[in-house]
This record gives sequence, structure tokens and C-alpha cells, in this order.
Amino acid sequence: MSKDFWQKIKKPIIGLAPMDGYTDSAYRRICKDLNPEIVTYTEFTAAIGLKYGAKKLKEKLYFERKEKPIIAQIFGKDTDSFIKAAQLCEEMGFDGIDLNMGCPSKKVVKSEQGVALRKKPDLAFKLIEAVAKNVGLPVSVKTRLGLNDAHDLLEFALGAEQAGADMICVHARTFKEPYKVPAHWEPVYELKKHLKIPVLGNGGIVSLEDGMKKLGDLDGFLIGQASIGNPWVFLPEKQQPQTFEEKIPMIKKHAQMLLELRGEKYGSHHIRKLLLAYVKNIPNAKSYRLRLVQVANLEEIYEVLDEIAEVIL
Ligand SMILES: Cc1cc2nc3c(=O)[nH]c(=O)nc-3n(C[C@H](O)[C@H](O)[C@H](O)COP(=O)(O)O)c2cc1C
Repeated sequence: MSKDFWQKIKKPIIGLAPMDGYTDSAYRRICKDLNPEIVTYTEFTAAIGLKYGAKKLKEKLYFERKEKPIIAQIFGKDTDSFIKAAQLCEEMGFDGIDLNMGCPSKKVVKSEQGVALRKKPDLAFKLIEAVAKNVGLPVSVKTRLGLNDAHDLLEFALGAEQAGADMICVHARTFKEPYKVPAHWEPVYELKKHLKIPVLGNGGIVSLEDGMKKLGDLDGFLIGQASIGNPWVFLPEKQQPQTFEEKIPMIKKHAQMLLELRGEKYGSHHIRKLLLAYVKNIPNAKSYRLRLVQVANLEEIYEVLDEIAEVIL
């Protein structure tokens, strides 16, 4: 994709937010099945690992055509790793590179990556500039409001734009705020007034309709947690399935794709938390917990899903 991808793409941009441990290729394909228009992101991937060609990390970046437009998200703190990783992503056929400047996880922040880069804006700008100059792909930045508040968001975003960022997405919570607290969108709306590049908002959106209400003058929004166990969030509310039985074919497809992607052993371990999320709102969900956290192959997954559907009919 050319550098003006974010300017040219149809607005409002709607995307699946990157979520480590969730939004792998199978998850993304399920969401794209339901809404082919959405933009997807990979889970965040360590630039330094990619630079040294780590096989596992390259596997993490696996994607299929149908997931496009797809953005590779990388994190790190040194220009050389960022450039090499971004070039690899370009070779792999990604549509854009996103630089993670928002991750609050202890491990990432302790090593001065993710949201910690907000404490070192000059380094952040150097990284953006280095990637923007060395790849032909559009470069975006995903960050938070700030560390404790949003006082430096505008300054940071203007610096990012000047360094060559083609889009910025703001998760409307601070570093200190857990994922469940209400997001504060006002600083993001204010930011939009001052930037030339597209601005996306993210945080606490529970449906497309909710996203449209929160959109204001922004260019788009990303949905994260509300899609876990509920990829139908990318459908208008009126088109969403009404019963668990209606959801089953998609859940089975997710399981099948995940086991294909990761192999039976790892895939069936990984699907367990997703199955728990899929059944979360059904009556008596707790009573299926034990079965769901023990599934070891596709037959067992299908069996327990069919049983649940029969019981709650
Ligand atoms: C389990 C989990 C993993 C996440 N992993 C990433 C990640 O890899 N990269 C990233 O930029 N943000 C990550 N995030 C943040 C989300 O992209 C998003 O900004 C955040 O969840 C707020 O959106 P929401 O309220 O719609 O979930 C993660 C969030 C969660 C809950």
C-alpha cells in the first residue's frame, strides 16, 4: 500500500484492535468473514526478534489475503531493529506498519518500550522517522492518552506527524488505567482538530452503533475487548444472531481454523479461553466451564458446543 493509504481508505475506518493472545490469523479471519470492510492488525511483535529472524515471531505474523488490509504491529526501542522488522513486514506483503507506543505491560514498559516511549518522545520520533524513511508502507502509531493524563498528547501526536507518521490511533485511556475503566474520548476529539493525518479512537466501544456515536469528527475507530467471544460485534446490531444455536457454525469454524493454524495440541489449549468467552452470556454458562477447559481436539469441541445448544434451546 502506498503512504497515502490512511488518507484514501473509505471513512469511517473500522478496525479490529490488536490484542496479544487473541487476534491471530484465525481470529482475524472470523471477524473479516462477518465484516469484510474492517482493517485488521497483528498482535504486537518484538522488532528485535524479527530483526534476528526468529521463526516463532514470523509465525506470529502469518496472515492470509482475506485479512487485508492488514497492519503489522511491532514494538521495540532501537531504530535498527525497527527498520529491519518493518522491511521484513513489507516483504511479507503487509499493508502498513504500526508502531506500538501504548502497551502498558510490565515487561515491555520496564525495558522502555510500548507506552514507556511517551517518556522519551524524542526517541519515539526518531523511531517513527527511521521506519517512515526506510519502508514504502504507511506508518502509523498506536498510543494512549498519556502516562497519568492527556496533557502531552497533542505535543506527542504533532511530533509523530512531523516525524512521518501517516495515522495515529489513540486508546482513550491512560497508562495507569485498567482496560475496563470507561475511556475518555474528549482529548482525542481535541487532538483531531490539530492534525492533518487521520486520527482513530479506541476504547470501550461495544457495537458498531456505539462506535458511530463516539466517532465525532474522527476518521475511525478500533474495537478490541468487545469482540472477544463476540466477533458479531462487527455486524450492525439488527443483523446479529439472536440465539446460541445460530452462533455455533461460526464458533466451530473459529475452532477449526485455530487448530489448523496452531496444530491440535496448542490450538485446542488456546481455544479454551475463547470458548469460555463465547458461552459467557448463556444461561448456566458456569456448568460447562470444566468441559470447555479440557477440550483436546475438534470432535470434543463440536460435541460440547452441540450439547450446549440442545440444552439451552
Ligand atoms: C488482552 C489484550 C491484549 C492487547 N494487546 C495489544 C497489542 O498487542 N497491541 C496493542 O497496541 N494494544 C493491545 N491491546 C490494547 C487494545 O488494542 C485496545 O487498545 C484496548 O483493548 C482498548 O480497546 P477496547 O476497550 O475496545 O478493548 C490489548 C488489549 C487486551 C485486552
